[in-house]
Amino acid sequence: MARILITGVAGFIGSHMAEKLIKEGHEVVGIDCFDPFYPKAIKERNLLEIQKTGPIDFYELDFSIPGEMDKIEGHLDAVIHLAAKAGVLPSIHESGAYIQANIAGTQLILEFMKSRGIKKMVFASSSSVYGNNETPFSENQDVSHPISPYAFTKKSCELLNHAYHHLFQIDILNLRFFTVYGERQRPDLAIHKFVKAIRADQPITMYGTGDTARDYTYVLDIVDGVYKALQYVMLHEGVFEILNIGNQNPVSLKEMISVIYEVLGKTPKIIHGAMQPGDVEITFANIDKAKKLLGYDPKTSFRKGIENFVRWVESF
Ligand SMILES: NC(=O)c1ccc[n+]([C@@H]2O[C@H](COP(=O)([O-])OP(=O)(O)OC[C@H]3O[C@@H](n4cnc5c(N)ncnc54)[C@H](O)[C@@H]3O)[C@@H](O)[C@H]2O)c1
Repeated sequence: MARILITGVAGFIGSHMAEKLIKEGHEVVGIDCFDPFYPKAIKERNLLEIQKTGPIDFYELDFSIPGEMDKIEGHLDAVIHLAAKAGVLPSIHESGAYIQANIAGTQLILEFMKSRGIKKMVFASSSSVYGNNETPFSENQDVSHPISPYAFTKKSCELLNHAYHHLFQIDILNLRFFTVYGERQRPDLAIHKFVKAIRADQPITMYGTGDTARDYTYVLDIVDGVYKALQYVMLHEGVFEILNIGNQNPVSLKEMISVIYEVLGKTPKIIHGAMQPGDVEITFANIDKAKKLLGYDPKTSFRKGIENFVRWVESF
């Protein structure tokens, strides 16, 4: 059994991650500041859901404020650093806040780890670092041309992580998540917005031609990838890796919308809008490296994941 710190534990992925660790017999310490990006009530509900699985040691704090992490008590074996200002679009207008929370904040996490002698980290990076690269995206591609401040912050964190790995022997796996969906998905994300609107018989807006595509990855597959990465980093010394955690199966926007209408049994009502700035055409993960290194193997079909998500939305 290990004692693991999860940052952003009250969020979408963080809350599922906490449940997974508890089920696997680990002790979870969680931090979250209830960033106002979406309502605190949703995050409080996520925390309550975690507590149905088992206890967590929770601290409400903002890690990007110097000194706040000192409140955390006791020994820690590893950090799963998920907390961030997420989302491409808002980062365009709030780049300063994204740089502060994501980059300066990650530096404070790394300093905290250094000061406490914690040598193992799994970091949530993003497929957005690939921008408009050739697909499928592979970890060895040049990602020096970010097309949003959000992507810039994620690549910057990977670089900073490397510096701390090199200087202070902190072992780190950087996982580039590809559009995550499923129960508790952030309300700002397209699938969530579409399901809510369609259930209320409202029209939805399809941006662009509908041919843009995303390598949607079901949240429990992501959590499985993070858990395997945690096991790997805890077992190995001197490791620093960047790994795609995706589904290797892009779904077009048109197809995504049609699956949601089908699962909900509703007739399509679609408004057409211009493509949004900062958005990439397609994301498509090559996951060979994560398969080989971690045995990562996403199993959930897009339709099954949407069915699970709809069932969750309907449970309220
Ligand atoms: N959801 C996706 O599709 C996706 C894709 C790629 C990468 N990611 C990354 O995965 C991670 C988790 O994403 P998510 O979708 O669960 O987002 P989320 O917003 O649901 O969760 C993030 C949590 O971090 C907390 N947080 C933010 N800043 C904080 C701070 N300074 N101090 C303490 N807590 C703070 C927020 O309150 C929130 O609860 C993020 O790093 C995100 O960039 C997500």
